[in-house]
Amino acid sequence: MTRAEGAETGLPIRIVAVAGARPNFTKIAPLLRELNARSRFETCLVHTGQHYDAAMSESFFADLGIPAPDVNLGVGSGPHGAQTAQVLMQMEPLLVERRPDALLVVGDVNSTLAATLAAVKLGIPVAHVEAGLRSFDREMPEELNRILTDAVSRWLFTTERAGGENLLREGVPQDQIHMVGNVMIDTLLAKVAEARQLDTLERLGLEPDGYALLTLHRPSNVDEPEQLGRLFGVLEEIHREIPIVFPAHPRTVAAIGKLLGGEAPGLHMVEPQGYLDFLRLMSDARLVLTDSGGIQEETTALGVTCLTLRHSTERPVTVSEGSNTIVGTDPETIRSEVRKVLEGHGKKGRVPELWDGSAATRIVDVLERDLRGSA
Ligand code: UD1
Repeated sequence: MTRAEGAETGLPIRIVAVAGARPNFTKIAPLLRELNARSRFETCLVHTGQHYDAAMSESFFADLGIPAPDVNLGVGSGPHGAQTAQVLMQMEPLLVERRPDALLVVGDVNSTLAATLAAVKLGIPVAHVEAGLRSFDREMPEELNRILTDAVSRWLFTTERAGGENLLREGVPQDQIHMVGNVMIDTLLAKVAEARQLDTLERLGLEPDGYALLTLHRPSNVDEPEQLGRLFGVLEEIHREIPIVFPAHPRTVAAIGKLLGGEAPGLHMVEPQGYLDFLRLMSDARLVLTDSGGIQEETTALGVTCLTLRHSTERPVTVSEGSNTIVGTDPETIRSEVRKVLEGHGKKGRVPELWDGSAATRIVDVLERDLRGSA
């Protein structure tokens, strides 16, 4: 029986979905839920193991109700080349064995690019969720991952208009681009009420609206002692005015150990938080200071003021419509922008188009329509 004949007999549409690092888990969760709710689809979830600590991985699976991965590649940490190569080498035989109708990847981490390369070389079409974002800063590893993944993907699902414009400029045909909204915000909207029931603030001794929340893990901010020291200097000053809660990423903890002689900054440092606890912390913060990509979007969806400690953003709608301001890393600018927020001039913004909790449904609708004939 040919694949086309299979369409009549209702052969399943087989999807291999890949997640590797913390920011992937919030994006893959609603997609898997939607795929598994439709009888036409058969899914296989691959965890690459790029993130492996319980706090960076397992706790997200539990908080988000993601089914246990069908396969865990266990690649772990390593230099970019080695980490990417490990995923590529292990994905190839897996895809040969499973012969999916499509590979589903999300975001911009090394696992995203590696899995994509393995699939396209085998002629398996790739669906990239969160396509088209560009910081125009090729020193960011994620920017290279985005450009390369988009260049070979068959379906490009975008979260905001700028994504589609970037792709068209790069020569992607219009009919491959689908503006669908934001799957990470699907997760946020589904979980925010549950998060608000948690005792996270009480446990950490915080009052709603009475603290700032900080995350910092970009190599450009934490891998160089002078830069990291300068940032902590101004943040410690701010901490004396409003407590700064700082769930520290393992990369940052390692940098503090190595570069700053282990001397912890004078902030309220805590372990990396699970998804629900972190959502609770974001939703009640007076302001959020971050160099993350996803947190710029989550604060926009929550209407919480966000100051981004980077020089560019690949998510411009968070600035043009949302609650985000790009403040860079100059201590003087950080100080004055925080002052404005504390004086009551924090940006609240509005929620961007289609960030409405139904992005995964739109994505799976497109895949079902386009793959029905091939399965
Ligand atoms: C990766 C992503 C980044 C994303 C971030 C979120 C790439 C290029 N970068 O960066 O886009 O914003 O995840 O967290 O893919 N480590 C642990 N335990 C873990 C994971 C990491 O200890 O579970 C430590 C290791 O020392 C490792 C370092 O963190 O070397 C960096 O991890 P890695 O996955 O290489 O990159 P991230 O900085 O986490």
